[in-house]
Amino acid sequence: MQVENLRELLIAEIRDIYDAEEQIVDELPDIIDKVQSPQLKSALQMHLEETRGQILRLEQVFNKLGEEVEGETCAGMKGILKEGSDAIDDAEKGDVRDAVIIAACQKVEHYEIASYGCVRTYAKQLGLNDVAQLLQQTLDEEGNADKKLTTIAEQTVNVQAKKVA
Ligand SMILES: [Fe+2]
Repeated sequence: MQVENLRELLIAEIRDIYDAEEQIVDELPDIIDKVQSPQLKSALQMHLEETRGQILRLEQVFNKLGEEVEGETCAGMKGILKEGSDAIDDAEKGDVRDAVIIAACQKVEHYEIASYGCVRTYAKQLGLNDVAQLLQQTLDEEGNADKKLTTIAEQTVNVQAKKVA
């Protein structure tokens, strides 16, 4: 589809992030299985549940826009997840692998933060305040998930990883 105006750009980006969220829901259980730290495991499990809610929220956005609920392959997320899973496979099981998992997940979060920030702003500028509000809620969740990962890295995982000779 040729994007010709801000509303079409909003819809195109919503389709992209909808697909990205679905990729995350597919991939995250495999990543969670490889986590050693109980703290990291529970944070990622919580975020998996949160992500399912974010998908429902995007479905509400499609409905509010009067658009079909349909994603469009997000090549960016495919690449980020592929790079992340390759790095996880290359890491020695344990604390170091947990540090790799945190980095991989934070790269995912930052892609999402960029996307949700943009679409939230488009919606606001188009006067679609209820849509903007839904997107802001998810943006806040992504930001909190990212901060939590930083805390876990700084307080436990990276501290343990540093001890590995
Ligand atoms: Fe998300």
